[in-house]
Amino acid sequence: MMPITPMKQFALLAIIAGFFLQSCSTAPDPEATAQVPESFTKLCASCHGDDLKGNIAQSLLDGSWQFGSRRSDIMRSVKFGYPHHGMPSWGAVLTDVEIDTLVGFLLKEEERLGVTKPPIPTTIETQDYIVQVEVMGQGLDNPWSIAFVSNDKALVTEKSGRLRIVENGSLLPDSIVGIGTQEWSREGLLDASLRS
Ligand code: HEC
Repeated sequence: MMPITPMKQFALLAIIAGFFLQSCSTAPDPEATAQVPESFTKLCASCHGDDLKGNIAQSLLDGSWQFGSRRSDIMRSVKFGYPHHGMPSWGAVLTDVEIDTLVGFLLKEEERLGVTKPPIPTTIETQDYIVQVEVMGQGLDNPWSIAFVSNDKALVTEKSGRLRIVENGSLLPDSIVGIGTQEWSREGLLDASLRS
């Protein structure tokens, strides 16, 4: 057997140290381990960012879903898009199963990173006004339109098809029966108005 000279010993140690350092640098980083699906990188990242945190379009990881946060709402957003606002419709490019996989990934990422819904702001600045926010009822699912019956009572439509009543600052648990439900489509229960 060849004797290990101090020089060789040093080289061996350096190789071991190099190997150790390399394995440390590839150790999983909880922020970076997510395997972003190839379809997201190819089709979505240019607008929503490689890390989903937004680029020229909004972050998909900020806990805020302006078109509804249920899996079916997000699938609808991806399938039909909002072409007039710059979000293409992907229904002709991706199958429902592929869209479902993508949406599952978005929701899993939110869960993995502990993303929660942002708190309700007290004011919202629009182009022309600063709007004061007052919570008059919570727990609505994708509310779309409101019609005041009196100062303290209002009817609110939920896009998924329910007509709800908000009274004295709280949402009544029962919805008004006899309204058709339109899930998974671009339609839904939209405007409400009172007839005198
Ligand atoms: C060309 C830019 C562009 C590309 C590419 C794009 N999006 Fe979007 N996306 C947008 C814009 C802009 C909006 C906001 C539309 C609005 O506010 O009306 C949006 C909105 C969304 C929403 C709704 C978010 C919410 O708050 O409810 C989802 C979900 C979404 N995109 C997912 C995707 C996925 C998944 C892909 C890839 C398959 C993708 N987008 C590709 C521009 C893009």
